[in-house]
Amino acid sequence: MNTNKLAIDGGSPVRARPFPEWPVFDQAEIDAVTEVVRSGAWGELAGTRVHEFERAFAAYQQARHGVCVVNGTAALQIALRALGVRAGDEVITTSYTFIATPNAALSLGAKPVFVDIDPDTFLLDPARIEEAITDRTRAIVPVHLFGAACDMDAILEIARRRGLAVLEDACQAWGAEWNGRRVGALGDLGAFSFQSSKNINAGEGGILVTNDDALEDLAWSLHNVGRRRGGEWYEHVRVGWNYRMTEFQAAILLAQFARLPAQTAVRAANARYLSECLAGVPGIRPPKVDPRVTAHAWHVFLLRYDGEAFGGMTRDAFLDALRAEGIPCGPGYFPLTQSEAIIQGFEEIGATEGPRPCPISERVARREAVYLTQNLLLGAREDMDSIVEAVTKIQRARG
Ligand SMILES: Cc1ncc(COP(=O)(O)O)c(C=O)c1O
Repeated sequence: MNTNKLAIDGGSPVRARPFPEWPVFDQAEIDAVTEVVRSGAWGELAGTRVHEFERAFAAYQQARHGVCVVNGTAALQIALRALGVRAGDEVITTSYTFIATPNAALSLGAKPVFVDIDPDTFLLDPARIEEAITDRTRAIVPVHLFGAACDMDAILEIARRRGLAVLEDACQAWGAEWNGRRVGALGDLGAFSFQSSKNINAGEGGILVTNDDALEDLAWSLHNVGRRRGGEWYEHVRVGWNYRMTEFQAAILLAQFARLPAQTAVRAANARYLSECLAGVPGIRPPKVDPRVTAHAWHVFLLRYDGEAFGGMTRDAFLDALRAEGIPCGPGYFPLTQSEAIIQGFEEIGATEGPRPCPISERVARREAVYLTQNLLLGAREDMDSIVEAVTKIQRARG
């Protein structure tokens, strides 16, 4: 049998076995949810688990406070509101992220101003922030994408000097560190997500973290329909939302949280090994991590693909070939600056111009990005070897 023949050309695939499934759970999650059902205290206001998780997760992120909410998007919306972002304001963020980041600003009538990425790390490039600041700019929203912390030294320095708030979109960065400090409360507020694909998940869920007592109080009020702490049930002192988390979510989160440190260590070890092995494959660049990222959450392992070294094969054809070899993978985010939804959102808030073009993230999104999701990194060494083997096989056949 010719093992060099690509699966996409009718050859046999490198692997037939599936990768580890997500989520990982056992009786602990089942018992935790059962207990909540039996307790009859199903909501945050009646139970204890939401508050227990808030304290535990905030401490893990080295933050003074945590406020659990329904999802990461709600956490971003609340945070922007709490930071005083209003209709007509501008919020600087990265052009390469999940659409929820700019959507949170648009939902408040504020304009997301996209700043292009560093082509090596795929993260917001601090060197490009200042040219995007105007007299309407209120906040900078760095996104610790894929679990890698942004250059918070540079971002916080600009924010302080220019009088801007900083909201960390840490929706993919549980446990991630910049220079030995956990992300989330390095700026004014941080938002995390516990949606199904996330490294710690409750189906849906989110949390806000902060070191600022007044911002915590405001965030708490905004997530609880604008109530006042200690006030009457129907006493509302501001326009807010019901974005409260359920005790079911918190029960699952407490159980999943117990698994996070060990899983993070496995992902990190596999990511390191995979990076080393793939570094020698022509046309493939493993993710470059700033040495100041002292802990990485490895939500996505992003390979940068260069079709030149693959005989001109497009990125999308490469993805098809890789999938045929038994490696699940995807193209990742669509370019936000060209997104139909974002362009419509700009029109809805009455912006006079569309999003600023960001050529690096547009190129990465359309032609270069190859995503491997976190569950692949929970596999064994042999699982990583099969990824390397599949990529190498395709490169040899086409290159
Ligand atoms: C970077 C980023 N921001 C925001 C969100 C929104 O979180 P959620 O899906 O929990 O609303 C997500 C996750 O989906 C994300 O990855």
